[in-house]
Amino acid sequence: MRMYDLIYTKKLGGALSPEQIAFWVKGAADGSIPDEQSASLLMAICWRGMTTDETLALTLGMRDSGKRMDLSSVPGTKVDKHSTGGVGDKTTLILGPIVAACGVPCPMFSGRGLGHTGGTVDKFAAIPGLKVELTDAEFLRSLKETRFANSAPTGNIAPADKKLYALRDITATVESIPLITASIMSKKLAGGADALVLDVKCGPTAFMKTLEDARTLAQSMVDVGTAHGMQIRALITRMDAPLGWAIGNALEVMESVEILRGEHGDSELAQMSFRLAAEMLIMGGAAKTLPEAQAKVQASIQDGSALEALRRFVALNGGDAEALDDFTRLPQAGQVVEVRADRGGYVTAIDGRALGLLAMDLGAGRKDRNDILDLGVGIRVQVRVGQRIEKGDVVFTAHAKAGFSLKPEAYLATLSLADSRPVAEPWLLATIGC
Ligand code: URA
Repeated sequence: MRMYDLIYTKKLGGALSPEQIAFWVKGAADGSIPDEQSASLLMAICWRGMTTDETLALTLGMRDSGKRMDLSSVPGTKVDKHSTGGVGDKTTLILGPIVAACGVPCPMFSGRGLGHTGGTVDKFAAIPGLKVELTDAEFLRSLKETRFANSAPTGNIAPADKKLYALRDITATVESIPLITASIMSKKLAGGADALVLDVKCGPTAFMKTLEDARTLAQSMVDVGTAHGMQIRALITRMDAPLGWAIGNALEVMESVEILRGEHGDSELAQMSFRLAAEMLIMGGAAKTLPEAQAKVQASIQDGSALEALRRFVALNGGDAEALDDFTRLPQAGQVVEVRADRGGYVTAIDGRALGLLAMDLGAGRKDRNDILDLGVGIRVQVRVGQRIEKGDVVFTAHAKAGFSLKPEAYLATLSLADSRPVAEPWLLATIGC
């Protein structure tokens, strides 16, 4: 088989056979196919797309390029969640403990942040001492003893995806529905959960800018999951602002804990986390209907069992559980600088991507894979979409290193303002799957 023929077929819009796709994935992973050829095929896929059968074959090839977690020794239906990513998205820190407290095992492998996006692993790493790279044995122990496990991917889960994602990252080929589907679903299938709830973001700074594209991506992932025997459901959620008030690792831990304490219950972040958790409870068999699941979620917040589940997970994995009650034990910034509005108006959108880049400049995110993060720095977003602000109001506080010199105009440029109040849009745009 020649890689040239695969590239040529796809360039003309033809379909690749499962054997051709398996040949490519294996060769990309073991280095026998040069990066230039993989990059050409990736670009051809971006332009020409893939059929459902091709996407399935690519997902399987990437799943089987490494090990698969065996979670069969953990009783119950194991339910995972995946979000296609958004600045300030800390839903895993909130819903994992809720789902665990309600009796459903929740195994999760999360990524580290790069560029403007944060990573759940980095957020957990802000809890002093918490081990964020668990061995398989530690992962299973955490799942059995606390019903929650979160780790950076251990060993080699879908190594072909790691290799191809790095190439996509430098060749502008990330934004392709079949490639995103195969990348996410190969890792989720290798992770061993029985069921999956997807949060597909839709908005100007998300991968999927339109509802139509978000639906196509969600359906594509649901189809692949279903074909592999996974229970799967997708929520499409609006993204026109960072999620919640915190951007930056320790700050995001604080916000998550506040929500688990029952604060900010009406915020979009809380509503979204609670809804995703409720969907997970239904899939895990802990509730039959959405209202029943939502009542269980609320009870776990009110009786403190969700926060207790987080404490148990942190303590079991070497972390300082007292830091969840005493935030001074979390990493802190050297200075806090207020940014005030230079004009008034209604906030119509907040550019999460630009704020993510500003947080990266502060040291909360990585410019390069090998950067060391400052876990205490970040941004507090003090306004919400729809809110009226006046000149002089504090709209952001930047938690920065001592001596860091801030450009307030860059922060203010992330706000879109209008003279009239924008029409309130729901955060939940559609649901897809079982
Ligand atoms: N996240 C992934 O893991 N893969 C993609 O392709 C896009 C987002």
